[in-house]
Amino acid sequence: MSFSHQFATTPTGHLMLGGCDALTLARKYGTPLIVYDVDQLEAAVSQFTQTLAASGLTSAVCYASKAFSCIAIYQLMARLGCHVDVVSGGELYTALQAHFPPERICFHGNNKTKAELEFAITKHVGTIVIDNFHEINLLKQVLTNQNATVNVMLRVTPGVQAHTHRYITTGQTDSKFGFDLASGQATTALQWILACPRMNFIGVHAHIGSQIFVPDGFITEINRLCTLIAQWARNFAVIPAVLDIGGGFGIQYTNDEHPVPVKTILQTITTTVKQSFKQAHLPLPALWVEPGRAIVGPAGTTLYTVGSEKHLPGRLPYVAVDGGMGDNIRPALYDAHYTALNAACPTAPAINRIRLVGKYCESGDVLVDDLRIAPLSAGDIVAIPVTGAYGYSMASNYNRNCRPAVVFAQRGHSQLVIRRESYSQLVINDLPYEGSN
Ligand code: LLP
Repeated sequence: MSFSHQFATTPTGHLMLGGCDALTLARKYGTPLIVYDVDQLEAAVSQFTQTLAASGLTSAVCYASKAFSCIAIYQLMARLGCHVDVVSGGELYTALQAHFPPERICFHGNNKTKAELEFAITKHVGTIVIDNFHEINLLKQVLTNQNATVNVMLRVTPGVQAHTHRYITTGQTDSKFGFDLASGQATTALQWILACPRMNFIGVHAHIGSQIFVPDGFITEINRLCTLIAQWARNFAVIPAVLDIGGGFGIQYTNDEHPVPVKTILQTITTTVKQSFKQAHLPLPALWVEPGRAIVGPAGTTLYTVGSEKHLPGRLPYVAVDGGMGDNIRPALYDAHYTALNAACPTAPAINRIRLVGKYCESGDVLVDDLRIAPLSAGDIVAIPVTGAYGYSMASNYNRNCRPAVVFAQRGHSQLVIRRESYSQLVINDLPYEGSN
């Protein structure tokens, strides 16, 4: 079976990314290098916008920028008409540096600090997604101090268990995120918000998890939120204009994974929204979705250079590359699976079985365990596709390795969008110890 992320090749048979030869990109920018195919980013966004538009619902695609955050991606999302989600002052700052329109920014997070809220209100962020009672009080203080008002959504934990890794499920009742629906916390929160005239209540938000392959969880989520909204309409005469169902749309990393296509899941979602709101005699809400992974994941490929090998009798050989858990923590953290290709001959028969490992001082720094790949030797370029989400954004300087460079490639042109970190940047915040005397 072939990996269904079809990759293009150059006339010489090399891997082609955004119309550029992967080997040329590796030579020009060095490795490890993350390359985004901009056409693929744009196609992923338009799949969301077009499918939602076809449903007839008013809608917005809010790119969850935790999946990959840098000035260039916010610029692209601004140009494509998206909204963005940010979850920290740092993401907000980056979006603003990219001149992303603040009214299209949604600020999420389960422990936004007062300083972060002050920053968001000063910069006229469009929507604050309120997560907890402490935040309601903090935001009230900030709004009073700044004599400001803001649109808010209320994050509800709908008690839905999405079947995915336990570190990335978020909608179940026992979660650190949001107001619990079952125990009535969400309704108490609504009352607090309604009592605060500086908060303009616009919507209900929930997010049930990440890397979700089937629509079932979304259906339950929508039905529960609709029931809640109907109760609020009866008891408080408020009907939120926006229903934000979060992100979590799953993508295919390897041949063993078979997510239902995003388009199909979205169609099920829009049909469910229309049906449940009609049955509950409620006006149709504007539907907001917050994909992160499904937009940037498949568009990104990481290129590495092969270095050392280790052979043991009766064991799979280790082949090491010049990156690893510092640029992609997902295999070590979530047991995430990837595939890899020899970028010089991606279509050559995968006759070797190896363990592709990184250069970090951890035995768990294995990028792909039991990989079938065409023969590799030192100096060859290995490509790991589908590394555009939660790779660079979770990168670290472990072992004081520099974080990689990032390039956008489109129709044969490439442009550096994040420089490779330098050794001098690694020590920029270090100060000499002056001793105690
Ligand atoms: N909205 C909210 C409120 C979220 O918490 C998340 C992800 C998203 C949207 C976007 O979810 P996506 O469409 O990307 O699945 N680091 C993990 C994923 C953590 C996701 C956290 N929240 C990973 O590498 O798999």
